[in-house]
Amino acid sequence: MKTYRIAVIAGDGIGQEVIPAGIDVMKIVAARGGFACEFTEFPWGCDFYLRNGRMADGDALDRLRAFDAIYFGAIGDPRVADHISAGELILPFRKRLRQYVNLRPMRLLPGIASPLSGRTTADIDMICVRENSEGEYCGVGARKHAGTADELAEQTGIFTRRGIERIARYAFTLARSRPRKLLASATKSNALQHSMVLWDEVVADVARDFPDVTLRKYHVDALAARMITHPQSLDVIVASNMFGDILTDIGSAISGSLGVAPGGNINPDRTTPSTFEPIHGSAPDIAGKGVANPIAAIWAGAMMLEHLGEHAAHDAVLRAIERVIGDERVKTPDLGGRATTADMKNAVTAALTALPA
Ligand code: IPM
Ligand code: MG
Repeated sequence: MKTYRIAVIAGDGIGQEVIPAGIDVMKIVAARGGFACEFTEFPWGCDFYLRNGRMADGDALDRLRAFDAIYFGAIGDPRVADHISAGELILPFRKRLRQYVNLRPMRLLPGIASPLSGRTTADIDMICVRENSEGEYCGVGARKHAGTADELAEQTGIFTRRGIERIARYAFTLARSRPRKLLASATKSNALQHSMVLWDEVVADVARDFPDVTLRKYHVDALAARMITHPQSLDVIVASNMFGDILTDIGSAISGSLGVAPGGNINPDRTTPSTFEPIHGSAPDIAGKGVANPIAAIWAGAMMLEHLGEHAAHDAVLRAIERVIGDERVKTPDLGGRATTADMKNAVTAALTALPA
């Protein structure tokens, strides 16, 4: 039987609650689809940091490279500074595993009310292709004259032709595969006269290879507003690292709940494993209560199976999610209900089992 080796980093807070739910769903869909997933758990995260003084074992990346994919929960704990938890685990892992695409679907599922009044599922169905390896997050810069009145910080963005070209190509290819074939490029070339002018030029160069895709370029502030005022006009969005970070939080907010939105950190070259995760964080305020919505983690698991080539399994999980959310009988508190993580997961596994084989 085809067996995928999956590394699991459930991490902190509600990561510990939603990832087991996602694993249960994957086991069921794998059994239906005639393949297996072998899950290996790693205890890395903020608890590990508090015990060992570092976020993960020193050989973590080498160990992760041996897996087909990585299933990731959330990292973050009020006792550990964010620049340590993100800066020593999330961001370097994305870079070192060459996961240069951050792919984030933002859809209003049937049964969820968008905070934008009157919007239905047909209005909010976009996907962001976020550059995940350079740009504003390249880490170049310095602080000088610490603690003095002359203290200064420099944070540089590095944009390369190669980096922009490969993310643009991925986005155009994805846009070509979708019915509307629309691509919105997030820029800010009116103010960032070096980096974003290069961004626009390279995106326009790549566009020549995709005459069937309609490219529109928006300054990121206008695009942020458009996501709220005219979400139906957006399909695929391509954005730099920080612009994509901000736009995808808007996208998941207008989709009704951060508890639903999944994401993939993808190395399209497949020389290293890709990581799939819910977009939400560790949510310390609700951690340990068993009420976190597991849908984002379950959907991220489905994206992982699709990446591994199990398209039917992905589609089955998505259908089960749509059925459960559309039913509106089981709702976790983020969706205005009182269901628990387990209730929601059980509803998805029941819907999955009820699907025709
Ligand atoms: C995300 C998060 C991270 C990011 C943080 C935790 C560094 O916001 O995955 O969107 O900015 O990429
Ligand atoms: Mg973010």
